[in-house]
Amino acid sequence: MDTHLSDVWFRLTDLEVVSGSGATVTTVAGTEYLDLTSGIGVVNTGHCHPEVVAAVREQAGRFLHAQVNCYRHDRLEPLATRLAEVTPPGIERFFFANSGAEATEAAVKLAKQATGKPNVIVFRGSFHGRSHLTMAMTTSKAVYRAGHAPLPSGVLVASFPYTFLTDEEPTTAVTRCLADFDLLLRTQTAPSEVAAVVIEPVLGEGGYVPAPRAFLEGLAARCRDHGILFVVDEVQTGFGRTGRMFAIEHTDVQPDILVMAKGIASGFPLSAIGASAEVMDRWPVGSHGGTYGGNPMGCAAALATIDVLTAPGFLEAVHARGQRFLAGLEELRSHHPCVAENRGIGLMLATEIVDEEGAPDATRTAAVLRHLLEEERVVVMSCGPFGSTVRWIPPLVVGDRHLDGALEAFDRALTATARVGAVA
Ligand SMILES: Cc1ncc(COP(=O)(O)O)c(C=O)c1O
Repeated sequence: MDTHLSDVWFRLTDLEVVSGSGATVTTVAGTEYLDLTSGIGVVNTGHCHPEVVAAVREQAGRFLHAQVNCYRHDRLEPLATRLAEVTPPGIERFFFANSGAEATEAAVKLAKQATGKPNVIVFRGSFHGRSHLTMAMTTSKAVYRAGHAPLPSGVLVASFPYTFLTDEEPTTAVTRCLADFDLLLRTQTAPSEVAAVVIEPVLGEGGYVPAPRAFLEGLAARCRDHGILFVVDEVQTGFGRTGRMFAIEHTDVQPDILVMAKGIASGFPLSAIGASAEVMDRWPVGSHGGTYGGNPMGCAAALATIDVLTAPGFLEAVHARGQRFLAGLEELRSHHPCVAENRGIGLMLATEIVDEEGAPDATRTAAVLRHLLEEERVVVMSCGPFGSTVRWIPPLVVGDRHLDGALEAFDRALTATARVGAVA
């Protein structure tokens, strides 16, 4: 292969793109594709939102990099103030980094310092990143961990209620998983050793599975009782994705630490963690940091992004679009037996594809995605442990015309990939 690029990246497509606008990207050949990946949940405001582009242009003329240990540039405090306004109550101080993995690591470092305890509990199917610690916290697919041992210790994995896989009623699954959690605290690590519980409110890479409200509330109550910090990884669910600014706002749970990245800056590599002043103040000065975290370009992009997301009616429109798309997917489920379940919140939706026996069908899913790409010019990803979950994550500004077109394209893809003997 005539390339100087590493082959380590998994490649969803070989499209060579030169520009993006809203929900579409354009290739070097001038062909337009509907992007239902949002760059994996990053361009929530759409590709090149004019307000974000204007803010970045303005910032680029003044300062590309004003290192945070050396200076307090004039986008830093405004962004922290703005985040304090839009994050759940009690989140009031912020630390900035570059990626989701870095922010998750920072959250764990803060939790260890704030509690003086060594361990963290995560959930089966979670994805928290690819650094060594976040790999140890990630159990969405074995490939992310394989060949990288030894991974850091002090990470315990608890059950997550993925009811589609276990064929349980949600209440049964929640009761079982909370009982498993209690057993873990009795058998694997005492609460006095646990600094944090880290959870995605909607399992992302692991299958787009919303955590039931009772599960999050049960875990948060246990954390409170045991002096464990409740850390919510909103890297993929944050910044409007679920129709609220943060997915945890669909519950009454107040996180101790909130982890943010991806949608925060519409494509600039910025991430953040937020906590109460009381927790944040327990982080010893100089014990954490980084060269680029809080970079002015990222902060300018984030400030403009938040303005777009908080415009009147924006989040309500996300909710409405999500409901409409989910209803369309449900309509397709009644025609295509291979569609076993549609689920999700806002514009973070999933479709489970199964074979004639009802087992996860990765081959069919791959064929569906290929059809969507090659025949329909619609870019869609999968997720989940079997690669059989279609992941719907369009830019939040996507219009009804595009969403309706995507449903029609999905309908045709399901028909075109029906196996001989199967009912299309
Ligand atoms: C929930 C969650 N946490 C953390 C990460 C890691 O983020 P990054 O790839 O920016 O390191 C991801 C990335 O997909 C994610 O979805």
